[in-house]
Amino acid sequence: MFDKTVYTERRLKLRKKIRSGLILIPGNTESPMNYPNNTYRFRQDSNFLYFFGIDQPNMAGVIDIEDGKDCIYGNDVDIDDIIWMGPQPTVSEQAAQVGVLCTHPMKELASTLQRAIKNGRKIHFLPPYRAENVVMLEQLLGISTQMVKKYASVELIKAVVALRSVKEDVEIVEIDKACDIGYLMHTTAMKMAKVGATELQIAGAIEGIALSYGHMPSFPIILSQNGETLHNHDHSQMLKEGRLMLTDAGAETVTHYASDFTRTSPVGGVFTQKQREIYNIVLNANNTAIGLAKPDVTNLSLHLAAARAIAEGLKGLGIMKGDVDEAVANGAHALFMPHGLGHMMGMDVHDMEDLGENHVGYDDEISRSNQFGTANLRLGRRLQKGFVLTVEPGIYFIPALIEKWKSEKINTSFINFDKLEDYKTFGGIRLEDDILITNNGSRILGSKRVPITVDEVEETMRG
Ligand code: GLY
Ligand code: MN
Repeated sequence: MFDKTVYTERRLKLRKKIRSGLILIPGNTESPMNYPNNTYRFRQDSNFLYFFGIDQPNMAGVIDIEDGKDCIYGNDVDIDDIIWMGPQPTVSEQAAQVGVLCTHPMKELASTLQRAIKNGRKIHFLPPYRAENVVMLEQLLGISTQMVKKYASVELIKAVVALRSVKEDVEIVEIDKACDIGYLMHTTAMKMAKVGATELQIAGAIEGIALSYGHMPSFPIILSQNGETLHNHDHSQMLKEGRLMLTDAGAETVTHYASDFTRTSPVGGVFTQKQREIYNIVLNANNTAIGLAKPDVTNLSLHLAAARAIAEGLKGLGIMKGDVDEAVANGAHALFMPHGLGHMMGMDVHDMEDLGENHVGYDDEISRSNQFGTANLRLGRRLQKGFVLTVEPGIYFIPALIEKWKSEKINTSFINFDKLEDYKTFGGIRLEDDILITNNGSRILGSKRVPITVDEVEETMRG
């Protein structure tokens, strides 16, 4: 938890952006895995954490614009809770730590909201993503579960996105810590990528690092020799000579700030010539995009610069052909990189995605492309100082997609399909770093960059 002034300031800034009414920010509840008392690891809602800071279930924050009060609703523990969980601070003690002096038992939330509704006041809330909170909002506000998301306040969404997009110095300190845990996870994965090891052992070991140094992984670990499957959570294979292991993983600190890195390592420790060629194209795309990142450039332009670097490199290998700019304008590179260059990162690994990707990544100036591949870019708008984002180009050889494009004759003037026959079992390479936009450029987050050049990766793997 940060100093209480951090939360007080944030709530003050939020108040200034909302014209009138009540802002309701529910926290999360415990979520059962297989029976009520056996719950998933508790993860507080990031918006509640941002404005109210308390990392405990069953609370809600209310910011009343007109009367100027911030209140936290929640119940103190009873003797049964104390027997099982030990003594706990009261709600008012916890609230005081985040600068909130008004607290009420949870049961009073309904009457507060009903009174406001009767008086014709607007209740602003964010789109809920957990069933428990959808049901709670239905009960509190009388909006049917199917309609709850539709009634989310766009005014509040925009205000929260504006605040959370620009990271404070205290947040950057935490993200740097998350990146340092990520460094350890990735260098451990590299060292373990030996012939005969299993993906499961490595995924388990690096998940353990995230758990032992922080809260948990920032998302389910992606680790596979089939890196051409973008989000591959299957860890069932044994590592084989000649294959690549793609690891996309990050940590969440105890204060819930994320890291998100991807590295691709040659099983056994040495890249083949063919792997090295594709690897260096991806690395060049990554470095090109990071080199261009600064305030006022659009992330869409960075995405397209990475796409050009990929098309240029693949043309050099005879896999693509024709004019590179035209190929990218026609989306031909997306056969190899069907995803976007990156996303915002903060308390959520895809920061604020619960608020709607377009609200976070696009604006009146830059709207989402509808071209295959670029349509998946989560962040297109102009970058600002204080933004934290990922840069994660990749090249994948996805047999089903290659077959589809070949049979439907898509972008045949830019793709050499015959040459692709040699790459059908290649897999995929993605290289992802996390960057902070600074005054006139960017900084790679974490105290050291995770090994990324061919030499650095091979050296790390040698141990
Ligand atoms: N690292 C997973 C993702 O960005 O989707
Ligand atoms: Mn990512």
